[in-house]
Amino acid sequence: MEDLSELIDLAKRLPKAELHLHIEGSLEPGMVMQMAQRNRIDLPFKSSEELEALYDFRDLQSFLDLYFLATNVLQTEQDFYDLTWAYLEQCKAENIVHTEIFFDPQSHTHRGIPLRVVIDGIHGALTEAKSELDISSRLILCFLRHLPADDALATWQSAEPFLDRIDGVGLDSAEKDFPPELFTAVFQLAREAGLKTVAHAGEEGPPAYIRQAVDLLQVSRIDHGVRITEDAALLAEIARRQIPLTVCPLSNTRLCVYESMQEHPLLELLKQGLLVTVNSDDPAYFGGYLQQNFVAVIDALKPNREQVLQLVRNGFVASFLDEASQSRWLDEIEQSN
Ligand code: ADE
Ligand code: ZN
Repeated sequence: MEDLSELIDLAKRLPKAELHLHIEGSLEPGMVMQMAQRNRIDLPFKSSEELEALYDFRDLQSFLDLYFLATNVLQTEQDFYDLTWAYLEQCKAENIVHTEIFFDPQSHTHRGIPLRVVIDGIHGALTEAKSELDISSRLILCFLRHLPADDALATWQSAEPFLDRIDGVGLDSAEKDFPPELFTAVFQLAREAGLKTVAHAGEEGPPAYIRQAVDLLQVSRIDHGVRITEDAALLAEIARRQIPLTVCPLSNTRLCVYESMQEHPLLELLKQGLLVTVNSDDPAYFGGYLQQNFVAVIDALKPNREQVLQLVRNGFVASFLDEASQSRWLDEIEQSN
């Protein structure tokens, strides 16, 4: 039996990639209160403690309600810059050397915040992180699936002037009753423009949504995808095609997809040959950043050393980095392990 604290140290020390991170989900309670004050936004809670007391989620929707409410404090380019920079400093502290982040343009443009403000702030911090922190990144624009497909199409059109700073599109928000097939047209436009595509599927929704994301949206990765355990044929196909699943263990337990981390299928999926990665999703809300996800997984599931290494390697293999950069990081992992 491996010493678990050694594995925790190993996970901390190794260079890592994060592929599933909603930048709005890294908005810490202290930052919510600070931005609310500087932007004179009224909130139904009066302190960070009162806000954190609401972090008791039953399901995805109960989380999204609070997530969208807190997002209202983000108003200026400086706010988006500060939010992103704080996350990138945390990356530096955890040896995350590459990150692919999501943002939700509709949750800002629908409040009257111009898309340019959002992108200038986020992308400004990402650019500075490359030179100051040596962290590489990709930026993925997510469509909110609880809004009509026409709204996604209009969002795509308004994003066209910024495509030099956007690497991919994704699909997030409430999953049940909002199947990927509704967004086939907008994903096709994004692919034709040369962007990568990913989609949340099989988090709360059925495996059929994973099938649609792969067949209709032609995604390069599935975000979450844990309900693939319910469809053996689909699982075998996704394993054979090595379509990655960006799994978020703390998110899944906080949103009650699993009652406890002991029940999480992460290692089972790895054993079945799936290309699974570990990610933090919305770290301000779910009890920690990437390292805390590794700690929770190591404590509860007791992986061996090779499994921890595989999860870390998979982060780079599943990334949108070019092959030369992937190989460089994989070599570095072999040398530092
Ligand atoms: N938006 C932010 N976090 C999300 C999640 N876990 N699922 C769907 N949409 C999200
Ligand atoms: Zn997510």
